[in-house]
Order: sequence, then structure tokens, then C-alpha cells
Amino acid sequence: MKIKIAPSILSADKKNLQKEVEEIEPYSELLHVDIMDGNFVPPTTFTAEQIKSIKTRIPKDVHLMVEYPLTGGYMEDFIDAGAYLITVHEECKDDLDEYILYLKGKKIKIGVAINPPTPLDKLNPYLDKVDMVLLMTVNPGYANQKFIESVVPKIKQLRKLKPNLDIEVDGGIKKETIKKAYDAGANIFVAGSSIFGERDRKRAIYDLREAMRMNRSKI
Ligand code: DX5
Ligand code: ZN
Repeated sequence: MKIKIAPSILSADKKNLQKEVEEIEPYSELLHVDIMDGNFVPPTTFTAEQIKSIKTRIPKDVHLMVEYPLTGGYMEDFIDAGAYLITVHEECKDDLDEYILYLKGKKIKIGVAINPPTPLDKLNPYLDKVDMVLLMTVNPGYANQKFIESVVPKIKQLRKLKPNLDIEVDGGIKKETIKKAYDAGANIFVAGSSIFGERDRKRAIYDLREAMRMNRSKI
């Protein structure tokens, strides 16, 4: 599986988004965009207009932490904002089959996410219909939280079930944790504070890639 690093702009300087994106762009495969509605999770984040205004050659990976991703009009807004891939949560209040059908018609990559407490089998009806599964490794809502170790067996189980599916992990991914998720079978790594919290972003991304190559004993 191709390894992809997806810096999350939730931890970037919101007043200088374009500049922040330009700093990570040469070293990253995806741009992770966290959208929160204040209901599914307490905070709110970016508007579709803000995301549309970001000019980048790396694909926008839009993670919708919202109650009504389909009926709330988010699909239209974020397709217009240039989304390459849109991920919604299994725990949202819209119908996931309708969401999948909607995006199939639009030729946008389809993702589904589950929170740490949600069992993997909730995704069974969708596994053959989506391009990516996002396994949250923190409870969603905030950057800079601690990686939840109990998600690791879920990554392993999903990789066994679906050898060729893109598996993204999101939350608490840093030098010290990325290898666990990688060894378990994840291939797309979202990282917010461990990239934008560092002054040297190139180095931070390099360090994440290096950490995956290390022997287990060195971690
Ligand atoms: C959490 C968001 C994450 C967050 C990750 O709700 O979905 O994408 O930005 O931040 P870090 O990498 O700092 O845990
Ligand atoms: Zn996210």
C-alpha cells in the first residue's frame, strides 16, 4: 500500500493558511481538512469558503465531523471547495448508503470513519463500497490528544479483512506512535500538532517517515 502523510490544518496558523499549506505541500501526499459543526463535536472549524480559497496541488482530504453531512449541504459545499475525498462518520445522523450513492455520481473518493468506541463490524455493510476507512485514534473534536492504543487491534483486523483498502488513522500520530499504526496495517497518517506544532515542518514529516522504518526495539 502507498504510504501517505496528511498534515491536518486544524493545527496550522489560521491567519496564514495558504502559507502554512505551501510549507508542507512539497513533502505531503494529502491535505487533511477537519470540519466540525458544533453538534457532532463541540467546536466549529473552517468554512467551505476558507477551504476553497486554499490553492494547492495536493488533494484535499475532507473529514466531516458533522451530524448531517448529506442533508446539511456539506457535500455540495466541499465538492465546490475542491475536495478529492470526503469522509463522513458512521455515527452521523444521515444515511450512509445515500451518502455513498451521492458521491459515486460525483466521482469523488468516498471515506467512512469510526470513533474509537465504535466496533469495526458497524462498517461491514460499506467496506466494499468505499475507497477509504478512517479509524479515529482519538475521540474527535480536538488536536493534540493522546493516541488511543486500543484502536491498534482494530487496524490489524481491518487490514486482514481488506488487504488493499486505504486505511487512514487520525489523532495523536507522532514519532512515538506512528509505527504502531503502520505495523498494524494503516497506510494513511493524519498528523496535526506533530507537524504544524514544529517549526521545521519538512523535518517533522521526515521524522514521521523515518519512525515507520525503525525496528520495533528502537521505539
Ligand atoms: C481530531 C481531528 C484530527 C486532528 C489531529 O478531531 O480529526 O484530524 O486534527 O490532530 P493531532 O494530530 O494533533 O492529534
Ligand atoms: Zn481529522
